[in-house]
Amino acid sequence: MEVLVKEPAEGDVVAIATSDAALPGKEGELLSAEAFEPTTGAATLLHVDGRRIAVAGLGDEIDADAFRSAAGAVAQLTQRLGGTLGWVLDADSPVPVEEQARAVVDGVMLGGYDAGRWKSGHARVEFSRLSFAGPERVLEPAQCAATVAAWVNRARDLANEPPNELTPAALAQRAEEIAAGSEHLRVQSGGPERLAELGMGSFGAVAQGSHNPAQLIVLRYDPPHARDDLVLGLVGKAVTFDTGGISIKPALYMEDMKGDMAGGGAVIAGIGAIAELGLPLRVLGVVGATENMAGGHSYRPGDILRAMNGKTIEVINTDAEGRLVLADVLWYARQQGATHIVDFATLTGVMNKALGDLYAGVYGNDDGWRDQVVAAGNRSGDHSWSFPMHRRYRRLIDSNFADMKNQSVRGQASPTYAASFLEEFVGDGPWAHIDMAGPGFLRWPRPDYFPQQGGTGWGVRLIAELAGSLT
Ligand code: BES
Ligand code: MN
Ligand code: ZN
Repeated sequence: MEVLVKEPAEGDVVAIATSDAALPGKEGELLSAEAFEPTTGAATLLHVDGRRIAVAGLGDEIDADAFRSAAGAVAQLTQRLGGTLGWVLDADSPVPVEEQARAVVDGVMLGGYDAGRWKSGHARVEFSRLSFAGPERVLEPAQCAATVAAWVNRARDLANEPPNELTPAALAQRAEEIAAGSEHLRVQSGGPERLAELGMGSFGAVAQGSHNPAQLIVLRYDPPHARDDLVLGLVGKAVTFDTGGISIKPALYMEDMKGDMAGGGAVIAGIGAIAELGLPLRVLGVVGATENMAGGHSYRPGDILRAMNGKTIEVINTDAEGRLVLADVLWYARQQGATHIVDFATLTGVMNKALGDLYAGVYGNDDGWRDQVVAAGNRSGDHSWSFPMHRRYRRLIDSNFADMKNQSVRGQASPTYAASFLEEFVGDGPWAHIDMAGPGFLRWPRPDYFPQQGGTGWGVRLIAELAGSLT
C-alpha cells in the first residue's frame, strides 16, 4: 500500500476518527440520525453530497491503540470499495500527528488482513493508497510503519499456513527467498546432520520423532556502516506443529499448534523488515524449526539429552519441547557472536492464562536490556510486561540424574521455570526471553484491530522498533 500526504480528493473514501458524535454540519446530522456512538472500534459510512465519509469511534481513552482500532474498523467496513483512503489527522488530539499516522497505518493494514487465503475464489481486497490530510512530517514515519506492517502480515501468513504446507524445510525456503531479495541479508540452513555435527542433542531430540526433517535457520544481516560494538541476536522457536509428542496434547484446539512457529516467523519477518528499512546495525537471527511428533522414533519422558553447551537434561514432559529447541539455538547464537539476545517463543500455555491474548511476558538476566525490549514493544503496539527471575526458582528444575529437567512437576510458575531453564544456555551477556503464547496466535477474534482468529505477527513491530532504537 502506497502512503502519501495529500488533502482528500474526489472519489477517495474519507475517514475521520472521533470520540465525539456531535460533529458539525451534515455529518453531525447524519450521525445523530443514526444514533452513532463513538466507542472504540465502532465505524459507520456516511454519504454526504456525493462523498463517502467513514467515521470511526475512538472511545474515551485516546491513545495509539484507540487509533489502531478505529482504523481497523474503517478498513473492515470500507476496504472493499478500493482506491484511496484519505485519512484526516487531528492536530488537537492528545496523540501527536506522527503517532496517529503510524497507528492508522497499523490499523488499516493489520485490521484489513484476511486469513481466508485457502477459501475457494479468495481474492485479497484492500486500498491501494492511504493518503493523510495533515502536515508533511508524518510522511516518513507513516511510510516506515507501512513497510513494517507489510512484514507483520507476512509473519501472519507464515503462522496461518497449515502445517502440512509449512514444514521446517518450507520455512527455511521462505527465509531464503526473503534473503534473495535483500542485498545485505544472507541465510544458511542445515538439516538433522548439521544438528548432529554441532552437538545439538537437545534440539535434535525433539526433531527425531518427525518424518519432516528439522532445520536450523541462520540469518545474517550485515549492512555497511553498522556500529561495531553490537550484534543483535534474535532467536525464535519455530515448532511447525506441536502434538506434545509422547506426552500428547488433548485434541481440543490442537489445530492451533500450527501457530507454535510464530516466534520463529516473527524473527524471520522482523529481520526482513530491518533489511528493507536498511537499518545500520548487525543482526544475527537463529530459528530452530521442527515438528514435535509422536511415533516410534520420538524422544521419551526419562530420556537424558546432552545440549550443545555440554549440559545434560532429563526429559520429564515431551510437550515442554520449545525450551529444548531454544537451549541449543540460544547457545549457538551466543557462540556466533550475538552480544544482545532476545528470544521469541510461544512457550507456555500458562502465560496465555496469566496475560491473555494481548500482552506477552518477558524475562531476562539483565533488567536494563529487558526493560529496553519491553519499552520498544509497547511503543510499537506489541505489548508486553516484565516478569521476575530469581536464583531460587532454579532448584525446582533440579534433576536426580542430570544437570536439570525440562519441567518442574509442581503446578506453579511454569513460565518462570522455563525461563530459569533457558538461562542455563544463554552464555554471558544480556538476554531477554519473550513468552508470546497469548498474543502470538489468537484462538478467538480480538475486539480491536485483530478481528480474526490466527497469527498476529506479534514481535515484528517490536523487533523493528528495538533495532531502530539501537542505531
Ligand atoms: N506450544 C506449547 C505452549 C502453548 C500452549 C502455546 C497453548 C500457545 C498456546 C508448549 O510447547 C507447551 O506445550 N508447553 C507446555 C509446557 C509444560 C509441559 C511444562 C504447556 O504450557 O503446557
Ligand atoms: Mn509443547
Ligand atoms: Zn510448543
